[in-house]
Parts: sequence; structure tokens; C-alpha cells
Amino acid sequence: MFFILLGAPGAGKGTQADIIVKEMSLPHVASGDLFRHALKNGTDLGKQAESYMKAGKLVPDEITIKMILERIAKDDCENGCVFDGFPRTLEQAKALDVALEKQGKSIESAIYIEVPESVLLDRLTGRWVCRTCQSPFHQKNQPPKKPGVCDKCEGELYQRADDKEETIKERLKVYFAQTMPLLDYYDKKGRLFRCNGNQHIGEVGKDIVKFLKGLKQKK
Ligand code: AP5
Ligand code: MG
Ligand code: ZN
Repeated sequence: MFFILLGAPGAGKGTQADIIVKEMSLPHVASGDLFRHALKNGTDLGKQAESYMKAGKLVPDEITIKMILERIAKDDCENGCVFDGFPRTLEQAKALDVALEKQGKSIESAIYIEVPESVLLDRLTGRWVCRTCQSPFHQKNQPPKKPGVCDKCEGELYQRADDKEETIKERLKVYFAQTMPLLDYYDKKGRLFRCNGNQHIGEVGKDIVKFLKGLKQKK
């Protein structure tokens, strides 16, 4: 089963992905994480993506779609995956549908984590991410047990370069203009599940797991 996590920057896509991948035993495919990994390793993909990410703009569709289709061609995605941060444009959504259809597969659900714009800035400016496993933490909302250290893998925590107020504002602008139309795209297909992302992390997780359990029962 293929799932998509939709939501604004800071909505909690990465946070909830951790819960879903465990519940469904599926790999986590996060476009932002793949780009940051490429950037860290100095690959051509990383160099192509760098200036866009720094500016809070989307990496061009052609580059992003190619990267994701290569990723899901790997064996671990044979039975599905949890997409986080992809698709982000109608072009990407359509390309994904076409690629899955060719293999007789399709998107099971797009899970939209709905959060008011006013809380996003605080979530992003207070975020710390693990350099090794990319798990997100928050200085107030989800503090690590030991400051600066990842609870899961003991990796070093850092603040993302694009979590500066100015860049966050640009990312939000881009989200509203280019990604919001996807809500309608998946809603029309009867695939959109909306959940309230403005509650405690565990409560959001419970709502999503309840929805996933319902899906499993229908299968
Ligand atoms: P990407 O890495 O995907 O970033 P994003 O979409 O901006 O989303 P974030 O990772 O910032 O937020 P999140 O929803 O994962 O929130 P999180 O769970 O961490 O993309 C980065 C860049 O890469 C893009 O700008 C673009 O340049 C490029 N890119 C990536 N994909 C692309 C694509 N498809 N096409 C083109 N370009 C692409 O949570 C945030 C914080 O809030 C954390 O600190 C967390 O602890 C806290 N938190 C989470 N949930 C809650 C809660 N319920 N209550 C309180 N705090 C919470
Ligand atoms: Mg994320
Ligand atoms: Zn870690």
C-alpha cells in the first residue's frame, strides 16, 4: 500500500511518518531527507537541489520525480511505502499515478495533517533534527531526553538551514501556491483523509492509526 503524507512545512509529516511506518511495516520515502542526504554527500543530485532548498523553493519537478521513481523501484518498496514531502505539485502527483498504474498499483490514501498557519513558525524555529536518522525533535513540544542527542540513535541534533524565519515564510508561500491544490486532486479521487494536526503528537498519531486499522480491516 502506498500512502502520502500531505501538510504544510512543520505540520508533522516526518513526526507522524515514524508512527505509520511502524504500524504498516512500510519504508519511509521522504523527498526532503533524500535531497539532504545527497547534499551532505556532495552528489550531483545534491548540487542540483542546493540553491532551491536554501531559498525555500521547490526543486524542479523533473529532478524530483526522477529521484523518487528511482527510489521506489528498489525492492523494499515492492509492497508500498509512506511518502513524506512528495508529491508537492500536480505534475509530481500525476507522474506518480502514471508510474504506479504501469505496475497495477495506486495510492491508497493521502493523509492530510491540517495545522493552522499560526503554529507552524514556532514548530519550525524550535525544531532539532538528527543528523544520522533524520528524526525530528522540538525544544518545547518534543524535547530529546539528552539535549543535543537523538533518543533513537544517539546521533547529533542540528537545526536545518531552511528553518530560518525568512526561508520558512517562503516555504509556506510555495506550499499554499503549489501544494494545496493536491488536496482537491486526492479528494476528487476519494482518497483524502483529513486529520487534525493541531493536537498533541500522540493524539494525531492515534487518529492516523485508527484510520489505518480501519483500512486494514476492509482489505
Ligand atoms: P521537506 O524536508 O519535505 O520539508 P517541509 O515540507 O518543509 O516539511 P518539514 O520537514 O519542515 O515539516 P514536517 O511536516 O516534516 O514537520 P516535522 O514532523 O519535522 O523539504 C525541504 C525542501 O526540500 C523543500 O523546501 C524543497 O526545496 C525540497 N523538496 C522536498 N521535497 C520536494 C518535492 N517533492 N518537490 C520539490 N522540492 C522538494 O515537525 C516539525 C516540528 O514540529 C518538529 O520539531 C516536531 O517535533 C514538532 N511537532 C510535530 N508534530 C507536532 C504536534 N502535533 N504538536 C507539537 N509539535 C509538533
Ligand atoms: Mg519533514
Ligand atoms: Zn537519530
